[in-house]
Amino acid sequence: MTLHTPAPKAAALAADYLPGFGAHHVTEAIPGALPEGQNSPQRPPFGLYAEQLSGTAFTAPRHENRRSWLYRLRPSAGHPAFRPFPQGLLRSGPFDEAPADPNRLRWDPIPIPEQGQDFLEGLATLAGNGDPAQGAGCAVHLYLANRSMTDRVFYDADGELLIVPQQGRLRLFTEFGVLELSPGDLGVVPRGVKFRVDLLDGPARGYVCENYGALFRLPELGPIGSNGLANPRDFLAPAAAFEDVERPTEVVQKFQGRLWSTRQDRSPLDVAAWHGTLYPYKYDLGRFNTIGTVSFDHPDPSIFTVLTSPSDTPGVANADFVIFPPRWMVAEHTFRPPWFHRNLMSELMGLVTGAYDAKQGGFAPGGVSLHNCMSAHGPDVASWKGASEAELKPHKIDNTLAFMVETRWAFSPTRWAMERPELQTDYDACWDGFPKGGARDRATDLP
Ligand SMILES: [Fe+2]
Repeated sequence: MTLHTPAPKAAALAADYLPGFGAHHVTEAIPGALPEGQNSPQRPPFGLYAEQLSGTAFTAPRHENRRSWLYRLRPSAGHPAFRPFPQGLLRSGPFDEAPADPNRLRWDPIPIPEQGQDFLEGLATLAGNGDPAQGAGCAVHLYLANRSMTDRVFYDADGELLIVPQQGRLRLFTEFGVLELSPGDLGVVPRGVKFRVDLLDGPARGYVCENYGALFRLPELGPIGSNGLANPRDFLAPAAAFEDVERPTEVVQKFQGRLWSTRQDRSPLDVAAWHGTLYPYKYDLGRFNTIGTVSFDHPDPSIFTVLTSPSDTPGVANADFVIFPPRWMVAEHTFRPPWFHRNLMSELMGLVTGAYDAKQGGFAPGGVSLHNCMSAHGPDVASWKGASEAELKPHKIDNTLAFMVETRWAFSPTRWAMERPELQTDYDACWDGFPKGGARDRATDLP
């Protein structure tokens, strides 16, 4: 192995990607920066420091194990003590500041405030469950940002962050490289990975699912077979890119629910090469191979699962990330929208764009709905009436993208969420006025 002596130069910041979900990627921003044949040579190339980042226990089974080796200008360990940092509107499990609410709840889009705030300052928690101290549960936050993060990076020691932009493109400069996210994409930043967020289109709004539990993974496909839903090749990890910046940088972390900060005299986004199985990634939700009925009845929405975080109970997710994308509706003699139901699992929904087929109004892009364990929900009266009377010809639901975080633990909303003026006071009225025996005037009704 040749040791090179010149200092590495930072790569250009355009995003460059490596395809594959859970793959073992190998990438270097500078040719020769990655050691050959071993992880921790006595003297790594260019005088870089070798550092392992473990996203699972060392002893996790091979198919679950996620870790990467990073080769950086300086080790992460070089920093002074962390001090408490203003918490803003970010909350964490255990969620106990407002009662877990059995009511159906829905919020109009919450506007981006006038005052300047970056992605971190603009994180506001809507609801959550579980506890990062127990490694179970999740939180759902909004981000409401109008300026880029400058000389500041963030990492979350409590969970991985699944980011769903709703308005405005984001550029995430992470330790592993650059991810650019547009509305219609998702991005995932693993636990512990430092990143900053630049706003590419001005003010930005979106959703974040903070997963305290097992890492998100692709769902099993069962009888669907070896292809379908989200295909692994469409997930993109960043190629290594780094900056060599000797300027004070604030490092903020979330640890056991609280924010802490320290300052380094340099940018920690200084990884010139990495290899491994733990890394940020993005996915264009438009690539989702949507599968549904071609005969009759509406399948369970689990058919739309993009990523799942399993719990310790097989088949009962810590959190599923599910989408409702454009798709053809062809079911015969079927009520085609999502049916009325009550669910063990708790469901929090957001809308990136368009309209959701179970609600004809009141659920706007950027809004949120929450249907907790066993709360009765389903189509509103207008959607029920329309779908009950529709001619059942093939119909394409288009120009829409809704998503759901479905979890085994009930969501508790935050006090902030319950006090927002956007919380709709009339949501229950969606289900007012269903006529008794609603099909009576049409088909094979009861006598
Ligand atoms: Fe539901």
